[in-house]
Amino acid sequence: MKDLTPNRAELDQIEIASIDEIRDLQLQRLKWSLAHAYANVGFYRDSFDQLGVHPDDLKSLDDLAKFPFTTKANLRDHYPFGLFAVDKSQIVRVHASSGTTGKPTVVGYTQNDISIWADLVARSLRASGVRAGDMVHNAYGYGLFTGGLGAHYGIEKLGAMVVPVSGGQTARQVMLIEDFKPKAIMVTPSYMLNILEEYHRQGLDPRQSSLETAIFGAEPWTNAMRQEIEQAFDMHAVDIYGLSEIMGPGVANECVETKDGLHIWEDHFYPEIIDPQTGQVVTDGTKGELVFTTLTKEGMPLIRYRTRDLTQLLPGTARSMRRMEKVTGRSDDMMILRGVNVFPTQIEEQVIATQNLSTHFQIELVQKGRMDGMRVHVEVLPDANSQSQRTAATQELTQRIKDVVGVSCEVEVAEPGSVQRSEGKAKRVVDNRQGS
Ligand code: DLL
Repeated sequence: MKDLTPNRAELDQIEIASIDEIRDLQLQRLKWSLAHAYANVGFYRDSFDQLGVHPDDLKSLDDLAKFPFTTKANLRDHYPFGLFAVDKSQIVRVHASSGTTGKPTVVGYTQNDISIWADLVARSLRASGVRAGDMVHNAYGYGLFTGGLGAHYGIEKLGAMVVPVSGGQTARQVMLIEDFKPKAIMVTPSYMLNILEEYHRQGLDPRQSSLETAIFGAEPWTNAMRQEIEQAFDMHAVDIYGLSEIMGPGVANECVETKDGLHIWEDHFYPEIIDPQTGQVVTDGTKGELVFTTLTKEGMPLIRYRTRDLTQLLPGTARSMRRMEKVTGRSDDMMILRGVNVFPTQIEEQVIATQNLSTHFQIELVQKGRMDGMRVHVEVLPDANSQSQRTAATQELTQRIKDVVGVSCEVEVAEPGSVQRSEGKAKRVVDNRQGS
C-alpha cells in the first residue's frame, strides 16, 4: 500500500490548531447557533422556554448540558419543513433520511451550508489520501440520500475528478474502475464486498486495480472487515461518518496515516457522549450515545441531536480535533438475547474469522418458545462447498459466537451467493419474530 499521508501544509489551519483555539472558536459559534435556533425556530423557542434556559445562559461549553435534546421524533413532528431557521426561499437543497417506515426526516441547506459541507467532504477526502487531480469513483447512491451528492460536491471542491456512478449495476462498476482507473472509491463497505465478488466472477485480480484508497461509511463496519478489503484490493480503507440530520457524510473521518478512529470536524459540530438511559453527559473515554450540536448550520440548526450511535470520544492524534471510536452500532440495532446485548458488528467479526465462509451475512431474529433467538445466515466460499467443510464452518461459527459474543445461536451455512447482497446500506437484521 502506498503512503498517502497528506502534507501538513495542505491541511486547513484549524485541523492542527491548538485545543484552546478550537474550544474558543466552538464557544463563539455555539453562542451564535443557540441564538439562531432560538430566534428562528418555534420548536427551539418553546423547548428552551419550557426548560427555563436561554441562549445567554451559555457562558462555557459545559453549559450546553443545560439545554434540551432534539430527537428524530421531533424532526418527524415538524415534517417536512417545520425546523427550518430561514425562509424557504433561502434553502437551496433538501435531503431526507433513508428510513423505511413512516415519513422521512427532512433537512434543508442554505447555499452557505452546502459550501461548508463540500469543504468538509474535501477535508475528509484529503485525510483519506485523495488530492486535487485524482479521480474518485463515487458509488454512494444519488438522490434524497446524502451519500451520493454529498460526496460528489466534496470531490469537486477538492479539485479531484468525480465519476458519478451511484449504486447498482455491479458489473458496470467493475468495468468503469478497470477502464477509467480511479485512485479512490467512495462506497458502503457492504457494497464494496459485492464489487469484490464481481472482480472474482470476471476473473480479474482486484490487487491489480488502480484503487489506492477507499472511503467507507453510511453503515457500521469492523476493523476485521477493513483488513479483509485492504488485503483483497491492496489499498487503504478509511472510515467516513455522517448523518443527514447533521449534514451528511463528512461529519468525521479517519486519517489514512493512523486509522485509529474518526476525527470529528469540531469547528462545525460539537460532540457530546451521553448515557442513553439517564441523558447525563459522560467524560471522554466513556462509551455512550453520540450527540451533536451544529455550530454553523444556517438552514436547519440542530441542538443536542441524539444520533443513537454508540461510540466514545478520544483525544486527537493525527489532527488536534477529538476522535470518535468506530461506531459499534446504533442503539436501535442492538439485539438483546437472553440478557446479552448483541450488535451485528460482533457477528461480522466472527463471520470473517471463520474458515471457508464469505464475508456476506444476515441475522434473522426468531421466536424460540417465549425467548428470542438468533439465526445467522452465511455462505461457504465457492471452493469450499463440500458437506464436511460446510459442517465444519457451521460448528466453528456457532462456537465462536458462543465463546466471544456470549450467546447461543443457530448458524445456517448456504450455497455461495444465497445471502442477500446490498447495493447501499446492508440490511443486517431481519426480524421474523411473531408479531413483528
Ligand atoms: O449514511 C450519511 C453518510 C453517507 C455517511 C455516506 C457516510 C457515507 P443517513 O442515511 O442519515 O446518513 O444515516 C446516518 O448511518 O446515524 C449511523 O447510524 C450510520 N452511519 C453513517 N456512517 C457510519 C459509519 C448517512 N462510518 C446513520 N460507521 C448514522 C457506522 C455509520 N455507522
